[in-house]
Amino acid sequence: MDEVTLDWARRIAEAELGEALPRRWAHSQGVTARAGGMGQLLGKDATLLAAAAVLHDVGYTPRLAITGFHPLDGARFLRDEHGAGERLTRLVANHSFALLEAEERGLREELAAEFPLLDDPLLVDALVYCDMTTTPVGGRTTAQARVVEIIDRYGADSLVGRFIRRAAPEIFSSVERIEAALAAQPR
Ligand SMILES: [Fe+2]
Repeated sequence: MDEVTLDWARRIAEAELGEALPRRWAHSQGVTARAGGMGQLLGKDATLLAAAAVLHDVGYTPRLAITGFHPLDGARFLRDEHGAGERLTRLVANHSFALLEAEERGLREELAAEFPLLDDPLLVDALVYCDMTTTPVGGRTTAQARVVEIIDRYGADSLVGRFIRRAAPEIFSSVERIEAALAAQPR
């Protein structure tokens, strides 16, 4: 793990979320803790996963909410204000099947053109796994419980509710692939 890069990412996330959105910050720290347990699986990309984990929701912070679609707002902020690398911004922009939510918002083309989905399924699945097995306040949960919680929070027929219901099978598949990969690791 490259501690300098991770520290850079953590400081940016804390500056944006720490006071403005303490729950999102607690969630982000929980997602990062999940990522910390995947070093063996990710190898040299472990730092990238942890940096994406701590920064994935940064676009929720009110001062950065330009389009109101947090993966895109967050990725643009990281690229434009912090010179973040392409793999990091593409991970943040596409975290947890953001493309499907972008579609609901009429932003699919814009997102795909500016931040194409990373051609690295393990890394993409790993971020889904870390995000979707962490509660809104940073604890551990199952992807099934997390999806139910999101539907309850936003409403089944809201934009986010429609998105998460469409994304759920993909989310569960990603989580299953990572659980299988983790279980297959030598201990
Ligand atoms: Fe998240």
